[in-house]
Amino acid sequence: MLTESRKSLRQLIAGLVIFLVAGLPSTLLAEEAQPADLIQTDKLELGKKVYFKRCVWCHGIEGEGNGPSADRLFTRPRNFIQGTFKIRWTDSGDLPLDQNLIDTVKNGLPGSAMPSWSGILSEDEIEAVVQFVKSLVQDRDFADEDEEVYVQDFGSNPWGTKGPYHFGVPQEDIDAGKEIFLKNKCFECHGGEGRGDGNPTMKDDWGFAIMAADWQQCWNFRGSRRNHFDPFNIVRTISTGMNGTPMPNFKDKITIEDRWKLAAFVNSLCPRKKIDRLTNKPINDFLIKSKRRIGAVSTDFNDPMWQAPDDDDRIKSRASDYEGNQYWHFVAVAGQITRGERNFKPKVDNLWVMSNWSEEEQAIYYLVEYHNRFLSVDPAYPDAVAIQWPGQLEELFGAEKPYFIFGDSKKPVDLWKANFMVKDYSDTAAPNPNGYDLDVTVEELVGNGFEAIFPKETPGGVQVVNSKYHQGRVKIMFKRSLMTENPDKTDVQIPIKTYIPIAFMEWSGWAQEHDEHMAISTWLYTILEPELPKSLLYMPPIMATAWFGFQMWLVWMTKRTRKMAAEGKVK
Ligand code: HEC
Ligand code: HEC
Repeated sequence: MLTESRKSLRQLIAGLVIFLVAGLPSTLLAEEAQPADLIQTDKLELGKKVYFKRCVWCHGIEGEGNGPSADRLFTRPRNFIQGTFKIRWTDSGDLPLDQNLIDTVKNGLPGSAMPSWSGILSEDEIEAVVQFVKSLVQDRDFADEDEEVYVQDFGSNPWGTKGPYHFGVPQEDIDAGKEIFLKNKCFECHGGEGRGDGNPTMKDDWGFAIMAADWQQCWNFRGSRRNHFDPFNIVRTISTGMNGTPMPNFKDKITIEDRWKLAAFVNSLCPRKKIDRLTNKPINDFLIKSKRRIGAVSTDFNDPMWQAPDDDDRIKSRASDYEGNQYWHFVAVAGQITRGERNFKPKVDNLWVMSNWSEEEQAIYYLVEYHNRFLSVDPAYPDAVAIQWPGQLEELFGAEKPYFIFGDSKKPVDLWKANFMVKDYSDTAAPNPNGYDLDVTVEELVGNGFEAIFPKETPGGVQVVNSKYHQGRVKIMFKRSLMTENPDKTDVQIPIKTYIPIAFMEWSGWAQEHDEHMAISTWLYTILEPELPKSLLYMPPIMATAWFGFQMWLVWMTKRTRKMAAEGKVK
């Protein structure tokens, strides 16, 4: 046993190391193994209190990760018994430092149910609960001499880029990063474009299914530490691996300089969007603007009319444009958990939506895109995506809307649903670099409530005019005339310059999602914009301000000249 004074000396050294790691470029770190951080027994009492108030619901009474909510969560709450922790500064397989666990509790693990506790728990409580979590570990012993840890040297950001968006990495380093990505075959798990679509059969150390991270949704990185675009987090992940998961460490395979370039490449794939500090997700776009086109709208995904954010240079290079293309919208979706067969683990948690409307065709187009690592191979569970409208918009007053899941008996909804299967596809085969065509069937449904959803007797002519599945990304383009014959009053009639409620739904066939077991957005609004020249929008206020300023100046000058004349300063 350690004497009390040696123990506090150890703690002092550990504290000093943490201080060094946190406060200095880590090149200064001594690269030597050190003892694991001991359990600070004096904090256990408080830690236990906090644990049983806040953590037990997910992590379970003994920390086996089987609290009452565990079965509903993907990924499952951590089982602490084995002492396996994902986010560390220590070598693959090593125990974490106290500081790593403290950071985890403070920042949460985005993309999982593990919340961020800063603001809820005090610093003392966080430090204490971390000690209690360590005391739940049974298979390893923080006091054992064999449990020494090796704190890695991650170098420092070679470009000096800063948050929140970390722009400014030279393109040649990003390109070099791509080569390193190819050479080290990250795509075998993460897919050719990083959407995590490489391998559907992986398991974690506890035997549960696990997916490779989608690099284009870096806000879901467990170790993002609420600094979602900081390449450091990726350097750390590649260097340490993620214990308990198939994510390997590349410490000895890739030099630290190259790890930074690889991180820059991975990082460059993630669209810059403003991240909500509370939810760790991009802020939802509540208004979907449909851009007016004079001629016909192109159905070609590559047409500039339909540029995706990651094809859009403006998003990458200029920080001021982080909101991105103002016609490209981020729509959060969540599992439907209010009624019927609830969906606690939806496979898809956001869609990207863009819209154009054509004056010539008097028609509207919506392109719905989303990432889904694997699509259905079972015709009993097709994949599907739907747009929901108020069925009788003209009957709604003010902010009135139908019930957000399939409407209600008084206020029906109009549902445009595209069901699809992928042609010549297998989820375990290497992805086809040209992508896959989809076999789409459009259904037009009337929703009069959760249990009253029927096909329309006279459909309004909704079409899917283009569709594709490529490297983990689905694209579906809907088209319909603004007005329809509408004999049964079941089709939404779409006016311009009006805020129209709109919602989206998505079913992941691979996870056997069907009917009300789906992902759904809240009601958003869409508006068909008349095309005003930009100058019309900003020139009048500018001119008015300038004119006002000029007049004030004239008044001031006149007064001043008069005053000076009165004082005899000018003649
Ligand atoms: C709502 C459920 C939930 C609650 C409440 C919760 N956690 Fe977690 N926690 C999770 C999930 C889920 C994971 C695993 C995420 C993963 O592995 O991707 C996790 C993982 C962890 C980890 C492992 C980190 C790592 O690097 O692997 C720690 C430590 C942790 N939680 C501590 C706590 C503490 C302390 C509390 C209470 C203050 C708490 N959790 C409350 C869901 C929860
Ligand atoms: C054998 C499969 C496999 C390979 C190869 C692999 N990864 Fe991973 N990676 C995973 C899995 C699985 C996860 C998700 C772990 C989790 O959710 O806990 C992951 C997660 C990640 C994350 C997210 C970390 C976080 O904080 O959540 C990054 C970044 C990453 N990997 C980068 C890479 C890079 C770069 C390479 C190539 C050098 C690579 N991976 C190779 C399986 C792999």
